[in-house]
Amino acid sequence: MTTTALRDGLVPGRGRIVVAMHITDVPATSPTLIAPETFLIPNLVPAGDGMYLHVNSMVIRGAEPVIVDTGAPVHRDLWLEKVFSVVEPDDVRWIFLSHDDPDHTGGLLDALEMCPNATLVTNWFSVERLGLEMPPLPLERMRWIEPGGSFDAGDRTLHLFRPPVFDGPTTRGLYDPTTAAMWIVDTFACLTPGAIFDACDLPRELIDEMIPAMNSAVSPWHQWLDPAAYRRHVDDVEAMGVLVAASAHGPVVSGPDVHHAFDLTREAAGRPNIPTPGQELLDQLLATVG
Ligand SMILES: [Fe+2]
Ligand SMILES: [Fe+2]
Repeated sequence: MTTTALRDGLVPGRGRIVVAMHITDVPATSPTLIAPETFLIPNLVPAGDGMYLHVNSMVIRGAEPVIVDTGAPVHRDLWLEKVFSVVEPDDVRWIFLSHDDPDHTGGLLDALEMCPNATLVTNWFSVERLGLEMPPLPLERMRWIEPGGSFDAGDRTLHLFRPPVFDGPTTRGLYDPTTAAMWIVDTFACLTPGAIFDACDLPRELIDEMIPAMNSAVSPWHQWLDPAAYRRHVDDVEAMGVLVAASAHGPVVSGPDVHHAFDLTREAAGRPNIPTPGQELLDQLLATVG
């Protein structure tokens, strides 16, 4: 799989796939332990050419369990089944919403209804934007926290930050210093040839092609970035001490791969965009169905 193949195949924008989705035609996935009491909740959609896009979320099952993002509408039933196989709804104390994009809010209303003891961690702008998409959210059950802020989840303090790559202005990542696990949201997206949850199980060449291409698709503004200024921001995120980075749209990056993935991200500053599919792909797709 190369950048050319990515161009030919599909591309994610706000979690929306250009190629038609058949979510029943994907490998089965189940919650995966990625750090102590920290579970990736995976889901896949076909991305063409035998590749799949992850649409993940996460659960931190500490003293005060936290649901981290709520999946995509197409996975709603699967998402509910997987999340509540690792935590009881009544035990959930926090629902952390990284941002208001639909591929992160698919189960939000269900989670709020099913988890009466949960407080929603979000921000003003997300609530404003979601007001255009769904019924009013319960203000009395929220806490609005900005990047640099944190909240106490009983046995850990979880820190919010602005991820290096994002496709929505409301985006906040989440870092858990007790496990060094990080929810890096739309950063480090990477298509995979199957149900592969750890970047170490992918060829390095695939990661080196895919992460820059997907980062570029998600955050095309990288072309206008001053490399020194951007480096300082990415350095600050990496310096939090992350050992395991979970992406909503790719396999988990851990160990030495973490620094490499941050490097691939830093290098995009000031570089031209990597193009996403255009009319040529649409023509090809129409030809195959016609
Ligand atoms: Fe996303
Ligand atoms: Fe997004």
